Amino acid sequence: MIIAVDGPSASGKGTIAKALAKHFGYYYLDTGTLYRMVGLKVLHLGLDPTDEQACAAVAASIDPASFADAELRGELVGGYASKVAMLPKVRAALLHFQRDFAARKPGAVLDGRDIGTVICPEAEYKFFITASFEARAKRRHLESAGATLASIKADIKARDERDATRAIDPLKPAKDAVVIDTSDLTPDQALAHALTAMGS
Ligand code: CDP
Repeated sequence: MIIAVDGPSASGKGTIAKALAKHFGYYYLDTGTLYRMVGLKVLHLGLDPTDEQACAAVAASIDPASFADAELRGELVGGYASKVAMLPKVRAALLHFQRDFAARKPGAVLDGRDIGTVICPEAEYKFFITASFEARAKRRHLESAGATLASIKADIKARDERDATRAIDPLKPAKDAVVIDTSDLTPDQALAHALTAMGS
């Protein structure tokens, strides 16, 4: 059983995906963390995030088991992540780990940008989570330590644009995805919408 959850930054996809995994007792993977790990390492090594060979070598070397680094969550690393995510060889280097994870029994929930379209087009359930730009910026602002709302808006806008317009695996809803707009929903209400769509 695979549940694919895609959507832009701060849309609430991670919250819904985690809640679904808990509800069904499935494994959960935040695939954005993989790109963030590559972005962080590229940043630390002082590499050029447009250098495809160098970034692909970093992507091949990351250890997805070492997920818990607070530094990963910041918008600087998010920006680097979305730059390296434009590189086909980086995406290819991260593909197998994601597909292997999706095959875990009894089931897996993966969230990201291309789960329903590229990583797991065969997923039994697909969701595309959205929210208004204002709602997403406010959420990120509440989570952030000190960044101004204006700078957060600029960062989200730049990342949205890169993610939606890149040549490879752009952010877009799968044709068979259920779209949930969480702008005015609490996390519990968003989960309820997803469960209803699944008929459970
Ligand atoms: O948490 P947030 O939604 O802000 O970002 P994230 O899910 O951690 O993803 C960081 C960046 O990784 C995104 O802006 C995408 O450029 C990239 N990404 C991707 O290309 N494909 C995925 N499946 C997941 C993330």
